[in-house]
Amino acid sequence: MPSSEEDKPPLSSVRAGVRVVILAAGKSTRMKSKVPKVLHALRGKRLIDHCIGTAVAATGGKPVVVIGHAADEMRTAMGDRAAPVFQNHQLGTGHAAMMAEPLLAGNTQQVLVTYADMPLIRPETLQALIEQHAQTRAAVTMLTLIVDNPRGFGRIVRDAQGRVTAIVEEVACTPAQLQIKELNPGVYCFDGTWLWDALRRIRPNPVKGEYFLTDLVEIAAADGREVNTIAVTDSDELIGINTRVDLADADFALRKRINRRHMLNGVSIVDPATTYIDADVEIGVDSRIEPNTHVLGTTRIGENCVIGPNSILAHATIGNQVHIRQSVIRDSQVDDDADVGPFSHLRNGAHVCEGAHVGNFGEIKKSRLGKRSKMGHFSYLGDATVGEDANLGAGMITANYDGVDKHATEIGDGAFIGSDTILRAPVRVGDGARTGAGSVVTKNVPDGSLAVGVPARVIRRGPVNG
Ligand code: UD1
Ligand code: CA
Repeated sequence: MPSSEEDKPPLSSVRAGVRVVILAAGKSTRMKSKVPKVLHALRGKRLIDHCIGTAVAATGGKPVVVIGHAADEMRTAMGDRAAPVFQNHQLGTGHAAMMAEPLLAGNTQQVLVTYADMPLIRPETLQALIEQHAQTRAAVTMLTLIVDNPRGFGRIVRDAQGRVTAIVEEVACTPAQLQIKELNPGVYCFDGTWLWDALRRIRPNPVKGEYFLTDLVEIAAADGREVNTIAVTDSDELIGINTRVDLADADFALRKRINRRHMLNGVSIVDPATTYIDADVEIGVDSRIEPNTHVLGTTRIGENCVIGPNSILAHATIGNQVHIRQSVIRDSQVDDDADVGPFSHLRNGAHVCEGAHVGNFGEIKKSRLGKRSKMGHFSYLGDATVGEDANLGAGMITANYDGVDKHATEIGDGAFIGSDTILRAPVRVGDGARTGAGSVVTKNVPDGSLAVGVPARVIRRGPVNG
């Protein structure tokens, strides 16, 4: 069976009393995009989908997502996988978190707040935060990151005893604070009985006029409440996406993580640096991915396959022992023991059945090539059904489009289509029927018969008329 997970115990089921709140209302001007930042794709999934998936994996429950900018698009994108709450004006991360109060106040012990632009956080990391927070009486338990590249993150300020006393945004840092290597990635667990009142005590930031969620740290300190931290060492996990440069960095990091997971699961990847696998792809054991290959979207690959080099598979379903060489396969299916390529193109509902062969320069669209049938050399099948054990000669094509409509072609079991045959649809070539080289078939060819010429005429009748 294809598997997409490393062998580790499954994450817990619903964690009682914990809800994740994802802040996603901002306009994200730094992306310079007409598309809301969190709807940008990363390895086949939108940023918001990564975040929702992680929250669900960590807690088992639906996260609350604060939306505002492009709210309708966001609602549609999320469907019922999250509980949306609306922030009318984007007055800052502190204000955004307040929007979840009506949903969560009084019924949630721990509120885990994070930002929608951090798609690489692992569920295990959120769980570690939740566990640690549950063991203390802290008002806040938060992740921190100690690295040299500050990426514009807020700095964690500690007092002489090492207690966290404030988070200072980069723009507001003194030169000394700019040197602080401990950063705020923006993932916090809050005491759900303390949070809502504390949020109301945030004052607008004097520089930006926004309500900063990060000010809760100072408020906790003023309340004499503990602020605890967990240091994360893998800085890739906490890449925040503000610009397209960050998006490319995140893609690179996630790609490495995905490739590694497949390799640990028994998939050979010859050159991970040039192998591009999307997040939800599944690949069976002992399959091998050759260099320069993209495996995208919902693609499923079985066991013992060889895919590539130089291939693109998008939303493809591939059986076992399949060999795909230098080809493009989109929204199509290739069954066990079949092979495709080099240089072929399957698209829009092509189905290559068990043991069938597609050679070079073949194109198949919305068609089925039956078991063990062969289509070796520069040929086109559009809107066609080919039976089993048929042979489609070099240069054969279906002329399926009359300029207005598409029409169907049927090729029977064991049919033999001569080289350079044009099948003008709608048309049927019967079981065991043959066409001569260069024929243009405009009328049905009965089972077992031979048709030749332009337009093709039946010159030998088969034993049974079709
Ligand atoms: C924030 C943190 C910063 C931290 C960094 C990590 C604050 C004040 N600063 O800065 O300390 O190092 O993240 O990535 O929290 N949002 C809303 N409503 C708003 C404003 C923002 O929902 O009114 C959402 C945004 O859509 C975004 C998230 O909150 O998903 C964070 O906002 P962003 O502007 O990216 O914060 P940073 O400046 O990166
Ligand atoms: Ca950010």
